[in-house]
Amino acid sequence: MNCNINFYYEDKNRGITPVFKAKIKEYGFSYDADNVEVSVGLGKFEEFSEKKIKALFAGTVKELKKHNITKANFELGEFSERFGKSIISQVSMGINLGLYEFDRYKSENKTYSPEFTYTINNRVLEEEDAETFKKAKNVAEGVAVARDLVNTPANDLTPVIFSEIVEKFGKEHNIEVEILDETKCRELGMNTFLAVGESSANPPRLIVMRYLNNSESDEVMGLVGKGITYDTGGYSLKPSASMLGMKTDMAGAAAVCGAICSLAKNKVKTNVIGVLPCCENRLSNSAYLPGDVVKSMNGKTIEITNTDAEGRLILSDAITYAIRNEKVSKIVDIATLTGSVVATLGHHISGAVTNKKAFFKEVKKAGKRAGEKYHLFPIDDTYRKVLESDLADIKNSGSVKFGGCIVGGCFIEAFVEDMPWVHLDIAGTSYSEKPLFDYNSKGATGVGAATLYELCAKHN
Ligand code: BES
Ligand code: ZN
Ligand code: MG
Repeated sequence: MNCNINFYYEDKNRGITPVFKAKIKEYGFSYDADNVEVSVGLGKFEEFSEKKIKALFAGTVKELKKHNITKANFELGEFSERFGKSIISQVSMGINLGLYEFDRYKSENKTYSPEFTYTINNRVLEEEDAETFKKAKNVAEGVAVARDLVNTPANDLTPVIFSEIVEKFGKEHNIEVEILDETKCRELGMNTFLAVGESSANPPRLIVMRYLNNSESDEVMGLVGKGITYDTGGYSLKPSASMLGMKTDMAGAAAVCGAICSLAKNKVKTNVIGVLPCCENRLSNSAYLPGDVVKSMNGKTIEITNTDAEGRLILSDAITYAIRNEKVSKIVDIATLTGSVVATLGHHISGAVTNKKAFFKEVKKAGKRAGEKYHLFPIDDTYRKVLESDLADIKNSGSVKFGGCIVGGCFIEAFVEDMPWVHLDIAGTSYSEKPLFDYNSKGATGVGAATLYELCAKHN
């Protein structure tokens, strides 16, 4: 069956059935013997924007899937005339993200692999446009990598399994991957990472991804992602309702992994090191206790006042490792770090803190290109003070109830050694029960992967 897709603006009825108003996201299907005409409403001409295109195409392919239409041509002439060639990336992202589904655990999973073609004024895409389309597809696939990892339950994504998956990506896309086991981490002095990691019979792994593809530059971007494959809270145990979703506590690590896969697939000329500290935060007879003091790789001693503030602990050693052993020159850390950011910003904007505003601006711009939003919080001594310890150099959580996202950032700041640094808290944005846009499906959003890709792609 052949399928033609026609787009219509509202209030400009072009002779199709009067019931079709062409409101945004309105669809019409008319079948004859071996042809189906699909009408897609674009809403009001004045209100239509480049941003809406991504969601519109995602919605359209979802609709085609519902109708089991496996072959279709999309005519993009009208869009390219109105918005320029940049819409090709939006269309590609929309289509490829819209097709995402996580049905690995359903006994009946229907595979839908449609054949889509694209034309501009009835001509197939020129080489350059086809290349643009392909590159955006590779970014969408990086987002899908992140989503798959986050959607996978903790029993199927232990730190060891995570490391094996990343090794496989490394072989596929030409990324150097090194896995540091607990013995190696002990040798390097990562006592803080191990304090958390040894709480479980599933051993911790520090995954290092090296994508060094610009020998003309000595800039190396360090991307450090929180990889808690399950967060029970440890002895500072979470109540069961808040524990339930905690398989997603490795979304930061997943975003870094997805971004680096996309960079490698697109052969972007840049230097990036990904450091993913992966472990569980569990209750056991080897688990760390509230009140313990550990000495970090950095040399600072940490009083652990709350075992549920484990993300900042594993990130501190991972950041020290990135600076000292991988010689990165800038750092972005990304983590599902605090419930506080969820309370403050909700599910559509991620929180950020930085020691260099100009660097945050770059991240924010990259987010804009990726369609992801970040809000910068202030940091100053009043927040740092919360973490002063009577016993050690610093403690991992304070008694102050509010401002937790900033306090978490202040803890990490103590380990960045004056490197330009941005911290992204994606606790609220990494998972969505009720996605607002069609390019997000229920569950993991893959947030951060596209932003980090855009940041590194521009960072030559
Ligand atoms: N993984 C959680 C944060 C989180 C909350 C992620 C909700 C996703 C959704 C993190 O490890 C945590 O437990 N943070 C504590 C920190 C506190 C003890 C200082 C929190 O936010 O309550
Ligand atoms: Zn956590
Ligand atoms: Mg926790």
